[in-house]
Amino acid sequence: MKKIVILISGRGSNMQALLEAKLPCRVAAVISNRADAEGLNIAKAHGIPTAVVEHRDYPDRDSFDAALAKKINAFHPDFVLLAGFMRILTPNFVAHYHGRLLNIHPSLLPAYSGTNTHARALYDGVKIHGCTVHFVTPDLDHGPIIIQAAVPVIRDDTEQTLAARVLHEEHRIYPQAVRWLCQEQIKLGEQGKVVFRYRKQTGYTLVSPGVE
Ligand code: GRF
Repeated sequence: MKKIVILISGRGSNMQALLEAKLPCRVAAVISNRADAEGLNIAKAHGIPTAVVEHRDYPDRDSFDAALAKKINAFHPDFVLLAGFMRILTPNFVAHYHGRLLNIHPSLLPAYSGTNTHARALYDGVKIHGCTVHFVTPDLDHGPIIIQAAVPVIRDDTEQTLAARVLHEEHRIYPQAVRWLCQEQIKLGEQGKVVFRYRKQTGYTLVSPGVE
């Protein structure tokens, strides 16, 4: 059975969705860069080993990433999942886990990479927003896309209501991507594209606002 390590920085709701999704893999550990990440308690309640590598204890990104990689590698994971992990990782770190490192991002990439995605989507008045699971490459938030979910932006949405609608979908697509990965249904191909062995294609179109 494949082994995964999940990296978090805070609330940990995506991590929780992964823990509760009955995935065909073993969660070897949850690691945080902050000792006060709420998600650590959720992991402990699920009986998952936890560890903390405080980024503030290291003088620069290289030394932090080296310490983080050492901690991760002690669990010998097949895959490493970023789930609200709020640190930019160095190219060395990313290269070390090439094809084995996934991230969830709260926008329909390549739109709205970076932070404050929901506020920026509302400001621009887009009518469709969403979330993306992708392989991590050194190009921040621009790695090969595995799966996306789109949601409508509805009238009177606030950052909070839109974030909640997107988060609900994050909790669906991240477990799906990890299930594919652990069942060897997907991999990062040599051309830097995601290779699917099997893919059920959705037949739905999301039109927002609806056509009358
Ligand atoms: C999620 O919206 C995720 O997409 C982003 O950070 C947030 C983390 O939330 N990268 P949680 O810690 O998983 O609840």
